Amino acid sequence: MNTYSVNTQILRVNPEIPEPEIISRASRVLLEGGLVAFPTETVYGLGANALDESAVNRIFAAKQRPFYDPLIVHIAEKRDITLAATDIPELAYMLAEKFWPGPLTLVLKRHGRVAPSVSAGLGTVAVRMPNHPIPLDLIRAAGVPVAAPSANLFTRPSPTSAQHVLDDLGGRVDIILDGGLCLIGLESTVLDLTSDTPTILRPGGTPAEALRETLPELVIAGSHVASENRESKPSPGMMLKHYSPKAKFLLFSGGGENAIAQVQQIAIQLIGQGKKIGLLVTNEEFDQFSGMEAEIEVLGSGTNLAVIGQTLFSRMRALDKKGVEFILMRSLPREGLGLAIGDRLFKAAEQRIIDLDLPINFSDLLSSE
Ligand code: TXA
Ligand code: MG
Repeated sequence: MNTYSVNTQILRVNPEIPEPEIISRASRVLLEGGLVAFPTETVYGLGANALDESAVNRIFAAKQRPFYDPLIVHIAEKRDITLAATDIPELAYMLAEKFWPGPLTLVLKRHGRVAPSVSAGLGTVAVRMPNHPIPLDLIRAAGVPVAAPSANLFTRPSPTSAQHVLDDLGGRVDIILDGGLCLIGLESTVLDLTSDTPTILRPGGTPAEALRETLPELVIAGSHVASENRESKPSPGMMLKHYSPKAKFLLFSGGGENAIAQVQQIAIQLIGQGKKIGLLVTNEEFDQFSGMEAEIEVLGSGTNLAVIGQTLFSRMRALDKKGVEFILMRSLPREGLGLAIGDRLFKAAEQRIIDLDLPINFSDLLSSE
């Protein structure tokens, strides 16, 4: 089957009370091996029947995703965890009780019936129950667990609207269920329960602080959270270039009271060199940047990380559409959702973070790859 030439249908769905006839149509497409994109509370997902190997393979082809990066299996009832996983520890049920439906993905031992490519050949499987009526109704109607990565092209920011999905996957997905904007805007927290100590492989919509109440021994993987880190390997997908806008993303940290003035200086120099620049700013920063010859996208109040999480990917995409060459942004506090936001920014910047407390080499900024 040619994945690249399907006729993509966009169907509007009521996100609170999904129309049964639309859900039933989409569920038939899933059962026939097709791809259906749908909103969740985190980001839009690109779904296929998790028990159908060739359908799952179409996900990888449509997204241009490498086969070694495993997918999340979505279920609609807590008890259906047994459809995807086996040898499930009591802790998983406790966490499901507390956090599902919601933005928490549990990595468990894989059940043999799940298509092997879902797990990229690993013996484990990631499972979550989304907190959104559209996927819940869809999974129930299909009667099978649904494998779904974020519905973006590999390395692009995750989609938080049906338009984003269409921009990336138009002609590669059979149906896009348009249920409006995603509430959280950041992907789920991926928590590995197969290692000795429960480990966050990807910070996300469920804050580490909330998990620590149940799991005091919780570990966070990844070199970028070194202060909280112990020896542990991140998710396969965490080692890749990810969430990148097309523009070169410059993330600034430190600088204290002078930080905004310093970022302004750098912006002015880039503009002076004829570069087209974009700024991602908080409400509080907006006035100080508003006179500049730059494309500006406002994220929301710096004191409300939930709103920043909601808008971040969509504002990155907006700046890309405007064709900027550089995106400048100041880093945010890393508490609560700030850990997930910081992780996505770190990846967007492809690990290039500019410490304003150190001397800045401007030509390095321009040339760094
Ligand atoms: O919020 C979300 O999680 C969204 C929505 C659609 O549910 N999905 C999502 O999927 O973000 P994706 O494929 O873009 O990210 C899944 C992450 C990747 O970092 C992947 O490496 C990790 O989960 N993952 C999946 N299965 C895993 C496994 N068996 N072991 C370790 N990590 C796994
Ligand atoms: Mg993704």
